[in-house]
Amino acid sequence: MKIAIINGPNLNKVGEREPEIYGTETFQDLLKSLEETYPKVQFVYHQSNGEGALIDFLQTADDQVDGIVLNAGAYTHTSIAISDAIRGLKVPVVEVHMSNVFSREDYRHKSYLSPHVSGVILGFGMQSYVLAVQALIHK
Ligand code: DQA
Repeated sequence: MKIAIINGPNLNKVGEREPEIYGTETFQDLLKSLEETYPKVQFVYHQSNGEGALIDFLQTADDQVDGIVLNAGAYTHTSIAISDAIRGLKVPVVEVHMSNVFSREDYRHKSYLSPHVSGVILGFGMQSYVLAVQALIHK
């Protein structure tokens, strides 16, 4: 099984960015731990700060993986283009957020992606990704 983890803008800064919200663990730490826990699963990781690059990652992953874990960052709340890209995919997508976006500013309460994904996991920090991977493995 192959799973793509796709991260959007500013998530390359996790570990140093607003640690009170996003913690101090990095995605390198997460990937190492996922690879140790699920040795039979192949993980591919992409991050971009650009909307178009994220759409390219999603479209390419659709032919290459069995499931996608997507944290589109702030584009979640703004991007009809990423929403359209998800609608065109064959593989299941789990939307994740590290923070509980519903306990934050109102503009984070709207997701253009949620109606088109298999499920949403939010509020558990890095653990949100682990739960999303588990959801795809057991799907
Ligand atoms: C986020 C929540 C978004 O509102 C924010 O813009 C992010 C990260 C999260 O993982 O909690 O960049 O997607």
